[in-house]
Amino acid sequence: MKTYHLHGTPNLKWWQTAVFYQIYPRSFQDSTGDGIGDLQGIINRLDYLVDLGVNAIWISPIFPSPMADFGYDVADYCDIHPMFGDLATFDRLLAEAHARSLKIILDFVPNHSSNQHPWFLESRTSRDNAKRDWYIWRDAKPDGSPPNNWISMFGGPAWTWDATTGQYYLHSFLPEQPDLNWRNPDVVDAMHNALRFWLQRGVDGFRVDAILCLIKHDSFQDNPPVEPGTYWEAWGHILEPRYTVNQPEMFEHVRLMRRVFDEFADRVHIGETSTEDVTGLLPYYGRPLDGYDIPFNFKLLHANWHAATVRQIIEDYYDILPAGGWPNFVFGNHDIHRFATRYGYQNHRSVAMLLLTLWGIPTLYYGDELGLEDVFIPLAQRVDPWGIKMPEADFGRDPERTPMQWDSSPNAGFTSGQPWLPVANDYQQRNVASQLADAHSTLNFYKTLIQLRRSRPALHNGAFTFVDGLGDDLLAYRREADGQRLLVCLNFGDQARTIDLSHLTSRAATLLSTHFTQQSGTTFMLQPHESILLQLG
Ligand code: NOJ
Repeated sequence: MKTYHLHGTPNLKWWQTAVFYQIYPRSFQDSTGDGIGDLQGIINRLDYLVDLGVNAIWISPIFPSPMADFGYDVADYCDIHPMFGDLATFDRLLAEAHARSLKIILDFVPNHSSNQHPWFLESRTSRDNAKRDWYIWRDAKPDGSPPNNWISMFGGPAWTWDATTGQYYLHSFLPEQPDLNWRNPDVVDAMHNALRFWLQRGVDGFRVDAILCLIKHDSFQDNPPVEPGTYWEAWGHILEPRYTVNQPEMFEHVRLMRRVFDEFADRVHIGETSTEDVTGLLPYYGRPLDGYDIPFNFKLLHANWHAATVRQIIEDYYDILPAGGWPNFVFGNHDIHRFATRYGYQNHRSVAMLLLTLWGIPTLYYGDELGLEDVFIPLAQRVDPWGIKMPEADFGRDPERTPMQWDSSPNAGFTSGQPWLPVANDYQQRNVASQLADAHSTLNFYKTLIQLRRSRPALHNGAFTFVDGLGDDLLAYRREADGQRLLVCLNFGDQARTIDLSHLTSRAATLLSTHFTQQSGTTFMLQPHESILLQLG
């Protein structure tokens, strides 16, 4: 049996015990009838989030943007898109959230701006413009082709020809998202000041986007072909991005950004990471811990839902954590199909049980608390540029971005207008209102689970021990603190299993089950795909 004692100090920071909740703002709540969610909509739903029990909200980009990548193409880092509201509405959101003890985390997109950002508009006017070097411009090869073979994360060349000045510019994502040149100190200063603008306003932290691409190898060499079966192949790449991602100087910039956060008290620095194996997370934590507080751990996103596989991923992560480093887990976000679809609907509550009882910060994705599944969007109705660019692959991100389902009124109570993406056609049955009224709903399951996590130190701060040998298809672990002993057991299989806990306790009792069963004693029966949280006597 392997026990992980928590490395942290007894004085945990607020984010170490928090439950994070990601809002995709276009899809959460529309207050104006334009079919797109907005900040006032979020304000109107803050009490829902308090009732759900989460502590911190991360909101995907809300800045002025032509929306080529739905906000991840920022045209002004220090303002709010009028579609979402304005700075006054944002300040109200912050005040209303803080009044409810909810933290607000924004999304920072440092690798690229919009091609409509004034910096880029200037940069492209002439080769000697003062902002020319704020982006990455290169000559064509003698035959007129791009400077090298680099491809965009969304497919197609990473270079776009600009006829005005006769050079190519680099974009790791869409042509509408030119990469900023972080080797230029003026860019670094401007971007750090953008962070300060919001941190001074009182935001509680940032999730930093696509940091892996921030610095490119200065040799500008071709990338090699991807090896079959590797991580990059799983993300749909044909080249291994050896010279375009995770360069050592990028980690230096993580550290420098971190120092900006440290100018303010109690802010959280979260990074969107991308690593082939779990050890790749170490430099994101920094040495010593001068990088991200929460380098997002996506290792379970592509896992097979098998007990042994999931156990191994968790163990490998806990094994490599740096001293004082705090773990975190992510099962879903706006870039990946919903886990109720990926792992099978029968497992969706078990995923929540795992996420909310592991040692590590959980980040929930809006709507997962209702058990939302992907919504099929026919090609003709797709709006996600990635989904449109790569229609042959199953990469479209619209299915996981559909409107939140609040009630059974038209458009699920999301908008009085025409929603920007279709609402799932099951919304009349599956929505917040109907699930609040059903004691055994997924929403009430989440509420109880989050409440248990928040109220029991064993769950958010307790030692973690795998309990092996209880049976096939099972994953079990104990969480213990202050004399409190809890046990979690997940049945990944489609057979019922009986577990004998007499070697661990003289009497245990169910605190919560995915199936709302109640048992006590030393033997417990788990139905297919059932997971249970037990109090050990
Ligand atoms: C990662 C974001 O999560 C994704 O939605 C976006 O398209 C890319 N970065 C580019 O900013």
